[in-house]
Amino acid sequence: MAKNLLKVSAIKDGTVIDHIPSDKLFQVISILGLDRIKNQITFGANLESSKLGSKAIIKVSNKFFEDDEINKISLIAPNAKLNIIKDYEVIDKKVVEIPKTVYGIVKCFNPKCITNNENIPTKFVVASQEPLELKCHYCEKITGRDEMVIL
Ligand code: CTP
Ligand code: ZN
Repeated sequence: MAKNLLKVSAIKDGTVIDHIPSDKLFQVISILGLDRIKNQITFGANLESSKLGSKAIIKVSNKFFEDDEINKISLIAPNAKLNIIKDYEVIDKKVVEIPKTVYGIVKCFNPKCITNNENIPTKFVVASQEPLELKCHYCEKITGRDEMVIL
């Protein structure tokens, strides 16, 4: 980067979630519950990225996510990269993985599904990762990436 300036300041300890599609930033914040915690959070959107064209980045101080917690964002930010920071150094890097089952997060595509008519949280089995296909545990209908609506 020219003049070596970070667009979002470095953090001392915590997690940097990089390579989020810019238009998914607020969904990622919501899925991870970052709108409900007291940690210091900084983020940037519409930053230049050679891979994505435009990307977003989130930095959460003093937060270290469990794998199953962070994998929830794989549905909308499959290329996200995690950087674990301790005492200003990147001590680990992780990628997100699509989980085998998805609880909540996504709405079932079938309007007649019980989850769309009663107060029952959605549950899917990942039938295919590429292209992404979620098979509903209740009605067995497939919700694909193009139909995916985040709850
Ligand atoms: N970072 C940070 N605070 C630190 C150290 C790093 O916020 N104390 C951020 C950097 O700004 C960068 C990410 O963590 O967005 C990864 O840091 P680093 O591995 O040093 O950067 P790159 O080599 O550019 O990593 P990559 O190419 O994997 O994105
Ligand atoms: Zn269903």
